[in-house]
Order: sequence, then C-alpha cells, then structure tokens
Amino acid sequence: TSPQIGIYGLGTMGAALALNMAEKGIAIAVSNRSAKGVADFMDRAGPLAERVSASDDLSALVQALPQPRTLLAMIPSTGPMDALLDDLIPLLSPGDTVIDAGNADFHDTRRRTHRLAEHDLHFVGMGVSGGENGARNGPSMMVGGSDHSWRHLRPVVEAIAARYNGAPCVAHLGPDGAGHFVKTVHNGIEYADMQMIAEVYDLMRNGMGQEPAQIGQHFARWNDGPLGSYLFEITGTLLQAADPKTGKPMVDVITDSAGQKGTGRWTVIEAIKLGQSANMIEAAVAGRAWSAERAVRQDADATFGAARNPIDLDAARLEPALLAARVLEYAQGFRILAAASTEYDWQLDPGTIARIWRAGCIIRAKTLDDIAQAFDDGPPHGELLLSSRFSEVLDRGIPALRKVVGQAVLAGHPVPVLSAALAWFDTMRQGRGTASVIQAQRDFFGRHGFGRVDAEGVFHGPWWG
Ligand code: 6PG
Repeated sequence: TSPQIGIYGLGTMGAALALNMAEKGIAIAVSNRSAKGVADFMDRAGPLAERVSASDDLSALVQALPQPRTLLAMIPSTGPMDALLDDLIPLLSPGDTVIDAGNADFHDTRRRTHRLAEHDLHFVGMGVSGGENGARNGPSMMVGGSDHSWRHLRPVVEAIAARYNGAPCVAHLGPDGAGHFVKTVHNGIEYADMQMIAEVYDLMRNGMGQEPAQIGQHFARWNDGPLGSYLFEITGTLLQAADPKTGKPMVDVITDSAGQKGTGRWTVIEAIKLGQSANMIEAAVAGRAWSAERAVRQDADATFGAARNPIDLDAARLEPALLAARVLEYAQGFRILAAASTEYDWQLDPGTIARIWRAGCIIRAKTLDDIAQAFDDGPPHGELLLSSRFSEVLDRGIPALRKVVGQAVLAGHPVPVLSAALAWFDTMRQGRGTASVIQAQRDFFGRHGFGRVDAEGVFHGPWWG
C-alpha cells in the first residue's frame, strides 16, 4: 500500500508521531535532514518498519507520496521551516498539504499559509501537546488550515490521538493559524498552572514547614479529587523523588531558574494586542523571567532577606482555593481565544477546544469536562466565570483563596498567580468599578472627555470651566 502521509524530521517528537502512526496501521513515508536520523529511526521501528518507506532526501520522500500529498514536518517552526518550504514548493503539486506540527507563532503560520496558497498548496498549523510520551501513545492535537487538508489528515490524526471516553482528542478548529494559536494559549494556561503549583509548594514548604515528599503526597491526594490533572499527578511524583547522587529531595538540587521557549510570552503579547488581559498568565510569564534573574535575587536576599514567615493555614483550605484558581486561569485562556476568534474570523468553538484538551495534553484536567459542558450550555456573555456550573466552585473557593493569598502576603510569600486570580475576580464582580477616577484624570490633564451615567454623549469636568 502506498503511504498515507509523509513525516519529515525524525527528532524526538517527529519519530514518536511516526511510530504512533505505524503502530495504528497507517503506511507512512519518512525522511530527515541527516540520513543517520533515518537509519536510527528504522532501527527503532523494529517490526513497525514494514509500514515505513524511508527516504534519504526530500525529493524521494515527496515522490513516495500519492497525490494529493500530506506531508507533516516536525522541525523548528522558525527559519528551518521557511527553508524547508523553499525546498518543497518546487517539488509539490497543486492540492498538496504541508503540516507544521511544531510550536509555531501563529503569525508565521498565517504568512506561510498565504505563501503556499499562491502555489495552490495548503499549509496546516497543527499544535501537538503531550510531550514525547503523548506523541508516541496519544497526543492532543489542535488543527488549523483548510477543510481540504483536514479531509486528508483527519483519518490519520484521529487514529493516533489520545481518547477521552472513546472520543479522539483532535479537531479541526479553524482556518490558517487557528490551530497554532489555540496551542499557544494552551501553553499559556500551562504556564499559569505550573506557577500556581510552585506557589503552593512555597507556601507548604516555607510557610507550613513541610518536606517535599509530604507536599508530594498532598498533590497525589488532590489528584484523586476534583483537581485531578496531569500537572498535579507529575508534581505529586516528582516532589517525592530523591536525587540518586546526594539522597536529597530532587527539587532541592535543581537550579531555581525556569526556562521558556516563548509560547507563554506569545499568549500574553497576543492577549494584550487583542485588548485582553490574562493576568494569571502574565504573572506566570513574569515568574519565569524573575526566576532567571538569579544573581540579582541572591544579592537582594543578602540585603533584605527572604521574608518567608510561618503561616497558619490548614492544607484543607488549599484544595477549594486551587480549584477556583484553576477555573479562573482556564476562563482567562478562553477569553483570549474568543477575542482572537472574532479578530481573525476563526469561528472557534470553545466547547470543542475544551473537549480535545480532556486527554493527551499537558493541561488535561478533570475540570475540562465541566468546562466543555459549560460552553455547550452557552454561559452569559460566553464567560466561564458566569456559568452556573462553576458557581459552587467559586462560592466555596474564593473565600479559601482569599485566606490563602492573605496569609501568603502577610507572611511574605510571593503568590503572583494566585493573587492575580483574586485581583481579576474581585474586579470583574464589581458592577460599578473605579475607572471613573481614571476618566476624570484623563479629562483633567488631556481634555479627553468622559461619558456620564445619566446622559448620552461626551462631557468634560468642571475643571475646564
Ligand atoms: C506540550 C508542551 C510543549 C512545550 C513545553 C515547553 O503541550 O506538550 O506545551 O509543547 O514545548 O511545555 O515549553 P517551555 O519551554 O516554554 O516551558
């Protein structure tokens, strides 16, 4: 049988996706920049190699595929992707599709979509989540691009996707950059959830005097309840791990500077460009940036001393507080998606997005099933915050979160994401806010004018005589 899809780029993720496909009975063609990568892949494929046709160069890979071709590239979505397209365009035929399965900036995806369209070629930006293990055994995939490409790609990705109650965690979410944008926001939520976990770890470790392994047990227990999620599960495990070299808790020997490849930052940049703010995600990106300033922090510690005073907090309060914060961070992510959908005319369906995030991806969490149902109900203003499905979680969780944040602030433990959650919630719950003061100031210094609560039109204050 001729191959259904080609894979170019047999690094960790590309090889894992290719093996997943072959295992699901899909005939594939593969190639890689270096011939050694191809040979290594064929060795790893073992008995699955019979479903793989291997090519040492790009034109042989293209030739191996029946038209219209579907070719998935798993290479850096930056310069190398543009260089690959330079090479591919003359080799392809009208109707062929190239898929970028990496973490691309969706602006690049839109640009590449237009570039390929000039040659009657299709470009698909596809977000893939779940790391190597997910790619090998069932990722969550967020697909953009044309209906034509989706028709050809769909059987392949539905076969390899993670499943939630039998439903594959993959969908065609919208045209051009929609898939990569949704993946970017997925990562923004990922950043917020990870930072929130680190903040709770700080409170328990330095405020409540618990050891990492004990804290890990709390996460493992929470993972069995409504907070069940991949990130809680792995945190439960990794906090209980010891360093084989020193015997110390593993988290104590890892440097305290977090890396970042850009997707969290892109989420914030795009949110702000769309006139939105996702302050929990902003706080998480800030947390990573501050973590990188290690030398400054060490000097500041010597000058001021870390204020990590004991706190009086019952671990039982943390669970409802964390659940409320989690709902709020997802709510913020979905607001950005809604704003982008309007701006780029993508017609994103938030219920579908929540459903394909229920398994396979890094932010998979029990809450997502409720979130999907809440969006299917059509909450007021499309806002998760206002869905009756979460009123109990918020009624119970917000007072607990207030107690947690209050204690943290008084004792000097930084909780940028948890406090951002409260700041947002407490702002949004005010039917009458305080921006009248800002409007008065703007009018005072710049004659910008303001609206009145009791009349239509633009007015000025008495300060203008
Ligand atoms: C996923 C992840 C993944 C991402 C890492 C690293 O969904 O599988 O989001 O795509 O590459 O999480 O991201 P940072 O290096 O920015 O933390």
